Amino acid sequence: MLNSRSHAQEETKKNNRKRVRLSATALGLGLTALMSLSSANAEDKVKVGLMLPYTGTYAALGTAITNGFRQYVNEHGGKLAGREVTYFVVDDESDPAKATENANRLVKRDEVDVLVGTVHSGVALAMAKVARDNKTLTIIPNAGADELTGQLCAPNVFRTSFSNWQPAFAMGKVMAARGHKKVVTLTWKYAAGEQYVRGFKEAFEKEGGQVISELYLPFPGVEFQPFLTQISSLGADAVYVFFAGSGAAKFVKDYEAAGLKANLPLYGTGFLTDGTLEAMGGAGEGLLTTLHYADGLENPVDKAFRAGYVSAHKVQPDVYAVQGYDAAQLLAAGLAGSPSGKFDKEAVMKAMSAAKIESPRGSFNLSAANNPVQDIYLRRAEGKQNTIVEIAVPKLADPARGCRMN
Ligand code: PHB
Repeated sequence: MLNSRSHAQEETKKNNRKRVRLSATALGLGLTALMSLSSANAEDKVKVGLMLPYTGTYAALGTAITNGFRQYVNEHGGKLAGREVTYFVVDDESDPAKATENANRLVKRDEVDVLVGTVHSGVALAMAKVARDNKTLTIIPNAGADELTGQLCAPNVFRTSFSNWQPAFAMGKVMAARGHKKVVTLTWKYAAGEQYVRGFKEAFEKEGGQVISELYLPFPGVEFQPFLTQISSLGADAVYVFFAGSGAAKFVKDYEAAGLKANLPLYGTGFLTDGTLEAMGGAGEGLLTTLHYADGLENPVDKAFRAGYVSAHKVQPDVYAVQGYDAAQLLAAGLAGSPSGKFDKEAVMKAMSAAKIESPRGSFNLSAANNPVQDIYLRRAEGKQNTIVEIAVPKLADPARGCRMN
């Protein structure tokens, strides 16, 4: 069992590495071809740097974001607002120690016009420092670190995903409303995990609930057993977690195998079950989670987006694919605000700040701190879907604590 799992992981890693190399080759060829086209105007192109994880726990998330971004570009003939897109790709491995170097490769060596990244909050914080220092236009298609659109907000840094506070705060309200009083939290010890607990606590304790114990394990550890043993003896009436990617799938399977699922209700932010239900093989059935996307929204943009995604990739899209798709939409809106034949960064940023994005999740605007103001849904895992139950909190804006745009 263990063997086949680690074999499968090795295979995925190999395939991912191959794919990153392949795209780099394709991009190299693309560049050569472009340079030889003497009639092509360099300003009619846009250089997009994708800094995302293609290996490790968050590999599937980086791939889905890339797929979503490219889908929007492909739907527009390989262009954004009439400009041909050239991609530069870096696998950031969700490793904060390599983040500055990886961001510099795209910003300084490849001189990209826009940096699109990343998934992991710790990597994103280092990446955003490079972006701020170099004033590089940046779109964050996942990482939720509250500071990115809070204390460290900047006019050139935009987010098409969420702040960690948003789905966490919504779940605090949901669990209190469902009558839970004593909750144990468990997550990875890094910026995102800590903020998922903080946002949850803020809402849950305001409504009279109590977090009786906060448990952490190092990212991206998956040795959950000792924690499951401890959880069962703490006298909680429910458990709240943040996990994502392959770690989430393993956690939910372990929770069920430990016999906890039937007695101690498990809740989480929607990352627990988005893109992971298939790998859980039924262990996630019935789980309630909060997120800014759900299955069954039934709006026309979502229907078209999903049909396009399924036809290209033969799997249903998840929230990460939506965030990638919207990053491309936001960039297109920005570029449309710049005179053609010119990359006027100020004009691009202005148009991006003012954009209304028709997203598969429903339409949203950006706050003054450049973070989506969006409905947070309560969803229930049913088969391979996270079916919408209701809107848990409508039009939720991150408080953007400490944000001062300069
Ligand atoms: C994060 O590190 O901010 C993060 C990673 C994975 C998720 C959500 C947030 O699914």
